[in-house]
Amino acid sequence: MSIAKGREVTISVLKFNPRAKSSKPAFVDYVLEETPGMTLFIALMKIREEYDPDLSFDFVCRAGICGSCGMIVNGKPVLGCRTLIANYPTGKLQVMPMPAFELIKDLSVNTGKWMDDMSVKVQSWIVTNKETDISKIEERVEPEVADEVFELDRCIECGICVASCGTKLMRPDFVGAVGLNRVARFELDPHDNRTAEDFYELIGDDDGIFGCMSLMACEDHCPKHLPLQNKIAYLRRRLVALR
Ligand code: SF4
Ligand code: FES
Repeated sequence: MSIAKGREVTISVLKFNPRAKSSKPAFVDYVLEETPGMTLFIALMKIREEYDPDLSFDFVCRAGICGSCGMIVNGKPVLGCRTLIANYPTGKLQVMPMPAFELIKDLSVNTGKWMDDMSVKVQSWIVTNKETDISKIEERVEPEVADEVFELDRCIECGICVASCGTKLMRPDFVGAVGLNRVARFELDPHDNRTAEDFYELIGDDDGIFGCMSLMACEDHCPKHLPLQNKIAYLRRRLVALR
């Protein structure tokens, strides 16, 4: 019995180590045999194990949950662990690190630092003037409101919306769809006492809600299909009256 061989695929990776003086950005081609159900994560692991132990990239969960494997494939930002090689009929994948984030090496970028800075900028926490009393039962939240908050909480902070955003690439301090989604989440949450004026202080400028050019790439590429443009439009309508 003969076993059918998989097709040959070429993964072309942009390699660069910004910390090594001698390193220059260059594409390196790796040719490998496709196996059934092969994801980009599996392909990169195979490359690292069998061809190039120096190749750097980030993965943790391999299940589209941790948000650490964002990268650019044939010009579009994707999660590497959710990207099937079979979806590329030419068998050629050009893989680059996401722009807009500090490059660590090859495909590895520092989304964590960017997300931390953004969280501080939009004050991504509950702000309340009520005293916390842990002996009391939690305040009741209407199920529909809780559902809306949980919907926005599904963000995995992968940075794909940031990497696909034209405004962010031109305006480095723009908080991105992920930041505006975060504000929309707290604006909905009845535990948070901030007013529209308070949110205006945080995002009422061109680095916030008025910077978005509605190009929609954030929502087109968000792997969690969050309603980003809808929430941005809602916040803008609410805050434009305060301008
Ligand atoms: S909003 Fe979507 S694309 Fe942006 S960081 Fe969250 S999950 Fe990723
Ligand atoms: S490895 Fe966790 S989202 Fe891809």
